[in-house]
Amino acid sequence: MSQRLQGKTAFITAAGQGIGRAIAEAFVREGATVIATDISAALLHGVVEATGCRAQVLDATDAAAIRAAAAQAGPVNVLVNAAGYVHAGTVLDCTEADWDFAFNLNVRSQFRTIQAFLPGMLAENGGHGGSIINLASVAGSLKGAPNRFVYGSTKAAVIGLTKAVAADFITRGVRCNAICPGTVESPSLRDRIAAQAQASGQTLAQVEAAFIARQPMGRLGRTRWAAWAAPPRSPHWPCTWPATRAPSRQEQPRSSTAAGATDPPEAPAALPPGGAASGPAKPVPRRLLDLQRYGSFVD
Ligand SMILES: NC(=O)c1ccc[n+]([C@@H]2O[C@H](COP(=O)([O-])OP(=O)(O)OC[C@H]3O[C@@H](n4cnc5c(N)ncnc54)[C@H](O)[C@@H]3O)[C@@H](O)[C@H]2O)c1
Repeated sequence: MSQRLQGKTAFITAAGQGIGRAIAEAFVREGATVIATDISAALLHGVVEATGCRAQVLDATDAAAIRAAAAQAGPVNVLVNAAGYVHAGTVLDCTEADWDFAFNLNVRSQFRTIQAFLPGMLAENGGHGGSIINLASVAGSLKGAPNRFVYGSTKAAVIGLTKAVAADFITRGVRCNAICPGTVESPSLRDRIAAQAQASGQTLAQVEAAFIARQPMGRLGRTRWAAWAAPPRSPHWPCTWPATRAPSRQEQPRSSTAAGATDPPEAPAALPPGGAASGPAKPVPRRLLDLQRYGSFVD
């Protein structure tokens, strides 16, 4: 590894398993000081054993605990918001409690962590800029996914939140991006497959085959792919994907290879004085285009 995160500190929610853990592991390999947080102490124990990173039990829905964690951590260079939950069902199945739970965990937690950590990143506040990475999904505003009503609603909100923060703070040294994966092999996916099998009377293999069948690339994603999309570089690296290395030909999603994921990086757009809002409309950063292309399978 090239130690591109040497000297950087990253704070990650829901790092106990799945994509959050894969990002924590990738960042540790790149030399970062990682503060892995999760609601589960047992899962964090495994992460610490595997990586030697710092860890802290944190419920991403607990506003006071988030503020306290930010105060304790001090300024960080990278904030990763990985906490999220997938409800199954249509609008007719969604209860008020489901809606509140989903928005509280998937969206409000990101609002709270950003509000707590952003001041420490802002250059004029004595910070060194930073990078905020929010886990969204291809299910949401990129695609409507069947039986993912409230989940898709929250992930669409995450994309809006991400763009709003990016527009407000990119000129002050803080980038805010979203990763939009399709279905990724993770412990919670196995739970969803089991629940769906029980509800439908299908076998686990049948339900898994149905998940795979709706992925244009014909296979489930891997947590490390999402970790590659997280930008482990300086706050000013150009907006290109993938962040650490190109996937091998076997690993590349079909849509990505067809569209040319190995295109040369483009230079970052020059920012107008006074901020993004005062300049002419800018092209969509290549990074977002690439993530949309990469995320062209269904969660
Ligand atoms: N797995 C996928 O197919 C997929 C696809 C697209 C997006 N995502 C998103 O990626 C993120 C991670 O998903 P995953 O499937 O890799 O992980 P996962 O669902 O397997 O694990 C979730 C982690 O979150 C932790 N957690 C649960 N509630 C918490 C809370 N209140 N506070 C802090 N931590 C809490 C759990 O202990 C667990 O470690 C989520 O935001 C998810 O919506 C996942």
